[in-house]
Amino acid sequence: MNNLENLLSIIEEQFVHHSDFMSGQPDELYAPIRYALSVGGKRLRPALVLMACNLFSDSVQSAIAPALALEVFHNFTLLHDDIMDKALVRRGQPTVHTKWNENTAILSGDAMLIKAYQLLGGCDAKLLPQLLSIFSQTAIEVCEGQQYDMNFETLDQVSESEYITMIRLKTSVLIAACCQMGALVGGASEKDAQLLYDFGVNLGIAFQLQDDYLDVYGNPLVFGKQIGGDIVSNKKTFLMIHALELAKSQILQTQSLSDSEKINAVTQIYTQHSIDTLTQNAINNYYQKALQSLDNVSISSERKIELQRFASQIMQRNK
Ligand code: IPE
Ligand code: IPE
Ligand code: MG
Ligand code: MG
Ligand code: MG
Repeated sequence: MNNLENLLSIIEEQFVHHSDFMSGQPDELYAPIRYALSVGGKRLRPALVLMACNLFSDSVQSAIAPALALEVFHNFTLLHDDIMDKALVRRGQPTVHTKWNENTAILSGDAMLIKAYQLLGGCDAKLLPQLLSIFSQTAIEVCEGQQYDMNFETLDQVSESEYITMIRLKTSVLIAACCQMGALVGGASEKDAQLLYDFGVNLGIAFQLQDDYLDVYGNPLVFGKQIGGDIVSNKKTFLMIHALELAKSQILQTQSLSDSEKINAVTQIYTQHSIDTLTQNAINNYYQKALQSLDNVSISSERKIELQRFASQIMQRNK
């Protein structure tokens, strides 16, 4: 079994030393790709692919191609998401469309999506049809989730279940696919691979709830993204939908304020109505559900310790 540090160093080594998929001409296309893929990030998704594989197989060799593919795909979504969300900073650095321009972020993003498919093509031929099918289904669901996220910006009421559907699509299914695909390349049964998917879905929901929370309460020096960005762009986050339920008139009064006044006022409303605690409780519920699915996987509990530890580490993140 590999520990998390080993697996993360395998991923970094792949990105640094075998980065031929990030080079080519013209440089205007590839420089933003290298920037996005080397500027850090937690590497959560490829780590999950390798860890899920490692549950069933001592070697993680077969998981490297899908791990890279899923991390490149994730970074593609960020290039386009940052245009859609008008985000200026990510990982403490200017976003691609800010450092270059929107057209660059669109096209380099498109190329990354294609590179993701090319990398996936390096998977074991026997499993490739199934992996491609999971990957494509996931990718289309991410687009569906992103469109719901945009649609919700202009709605003044979104239910919690509509919100959960939206984040399951835009964020969780990718995390779930990482776990399922890792399990499959590691030789898991269909049933265990599905349990890994379920683990990933609930972990992913907890992860996006946390992202919503950190967008308000994160430390600006550590989080790497603009604090209050969701408030400014009218996102129907978990916090906002509950604020609209508990204190709609208070929220409406903040609408004419300047960006920074609005961030302060809305944050105060959240805290006043204990929406921070409400969010933490919801995060914990989904995290517990995730752990239950992992419990049901038919391997020794010893083999699950690294993944459980990683999940717990993710739940304590501050960036
Ligand atoms: C950001 O994902 C997008 C969300 C789903 C919230 P991460 O927080 O995993 O981003 P990086 O790759 O670590 O920067
Ligand atoms: C993440 O949603 C979903 C995708 C990137 C597909 P956010 O818009 O909340 O992600 P961040 O906060 O910009 O990383
Ligand atoms: Mg977004
Ligand atoms: Mg965003
Ligand atoms: Mg966010």
